[in-house]
Amino acid sequence: MATIIDGKTLAKKIRENLKIECDELKEKGIKPKLAVIMVGDDPASKVYVRNKSRACDEIGIEYQEYLLNENITQDELLELIKKLNNDETVNGILLQSPIPENLDINEAFKTITYLKDVDGFTPSSVGKLCIGEDTFVSCTPLGVIKMFEEYNIDLNGKDVVILGRSNIVGRPLIQCCLQKNATVTICHSKTNNLKEHTKRADVIISAIGKPKFVTEDMVKDNVVIVDVGINRDENGKLVGDVDFENVEKKASYITPVPGGVGPMTIAMLMHNVIKATKEQYKEKSIL
Ligand code: GUN
Repeated sequence: MATIIDGKTLAKKIRENLKIECDELKEKGIKPKLAVIMVGDDPASKVYVRNKSRACDEIGIEYQEYLLNENITQDELLELIKKLNNDETVNGILLQSPIPENLDINEAFKTITYLKDVDGFTPSSVGKLCIGEDTFVSCTPLGVIKMFEEYNIDLNGKDVVILGRSNIVGRPLIQCCLQKNATVTICHSKTNNLKEHTKRADVIISAIGKPKFVTEDMVKDNVVIVDVGINRDENGKLVGDVDFENVEKKASYITPVPGGVGPMTIAMLMHNVIKATKEQYKEKSIL
């Protein structure tokens, strides 16, 4: 039987520590603030954004939401980002994805100033991550690494197989695992003989968005499984990418869905907002 990696409890502990840090900043007259931009009304995004706002409330981070009409132009979106870049009361800027397809999300991410890049999506953050410098790391990969650290799962020399090559999860995870001295393989929709890769993996991190994609026959005994998937099954139940019930029997560690990676992602966003706030004030020689 596998040890269940309890992301919910770990995330709560992290949020409690962040609240202490946030209180200390407030004692110095510094009020951390996150601005969230949402374009259109994607139902999943609404849920994510609500959860982010609740986490801010709990920690004491000010939260400001900009809900933009789906007909907004690229210029209008960039203007808002630039305004928030220049607003000294705003410490973190998050553009919720997806946005309507006629808008260029990469150009919008690029417009966010590095020191407010709490999602870690700007070219500066991504580039710094690639050369191993301290930076803002995308929240889900950072949450996954914190889980490994909390459970003393050492990646040194291990075969880590990542499923999915998104800019938000798969690609930054390559660098995060590499920094922990893992041998990293990234698999995606065009990978041949996927099972050959997963079968030899010491650690599998799945972020592809397909229910029950990772099955018992694809993994070896004592594998560590991290399930980043957030899907609905045929009954509308929230499930990950992994056939949990069967894979759990072979795994040494496994994350559940819900209660695994999801809460960690939000805790890491809060971590990045506090980090951004501190770095901005250090830049002004105030901290
Ligand atoms: N959409 C889905 N996940 C994320 C995320 O982590 N950040 C942003 N900005 N949008 C998302």
